[in-house]
Amino acid sequence: MKTINIAIDGPAGAGKSSIAKRCAKELGFIYVDTGALYRSVALFAIRNDVLTNDEAAVLALLQNVNVELKFVDNVQKVYLNGEDVSEAIRQNEVSMGASNVSAIPKVREFLFNLQRRIAMTNNVIMDGRDIGTVVLPDADLKIFMTASPEIRAKRRYLELEHKPDCPSFEALLAEIIQRDYNDSHRETAPLKQADDAVLLDTSELDFEQSVQKVIELIKSVEE
Ligand code: DC
Repeated sequence: MKTINIAIDGPAGAGKSSIAKRCAKELGFIYVDTGALYRSVALFAIRNDVLTNDEAAVLALLQNVNVELKFVDNVQKVYLNGEDVSEAIRQNEVSMGASNVSAIPKVREFLFNLQRRIAMTNNVIMDGRDIGTVVLPDADLKIFMTASPEIRAKRRYLELEHKPDCPSFEALLAEIIQRDYNDSHRETAPLKQADDAVLLDTSELDFEQSVQKVIELIKSVEE
């Protein structure tokens, strides 16, 4: 049976994951957050006192890394060497580490098959940076979701505000700008809109409006 594959790419904080998660739930698809894979590799490096931008050291660690995705009621859990790290990978320090390890071509290769396999066997909404361009070039629908850096930093701030050690808005904005730069300027699989992707700017849309827009787009290809 042919599966339906929806690719959503875009910069950090554009709303990809929360919007994709909700759409997947409504449509009975599996939501795959591929950033979690890069985050798991970064977490492993951080836990082993390896700098995430030290390519040789990160590559030396890879043989000891086993990342798995499991879906419970269509909700993704990520396991690092058998441990559920779904929460641990969300720490702010892991974000920049993930951006660093994701620039290493062998790390991308290491995580490629896992992503492909899931899409071949399930109806998926998969989000990331290179899903429409590299991982699923034949996806049924590609969406490039974006929003202004200020809006993205504000959303991130509102998410973290009540947590201990919440960075300032200015620090989050600077981090978002730096991460955009890293993700879109790396040599391998940089963040960029696929030629056949639909551009969706969520700066002026609230969550519900964004969800409805994505569902409309998906329904138009399902018919
Ligand atoms: O989506 P996220 O913020 O959890 O992703 C963390 C980092 O992982 C991001 O800065 C870039 C990288 N990434 C990637 O290079 N390719 C993907 N498909 C997903 C994430």
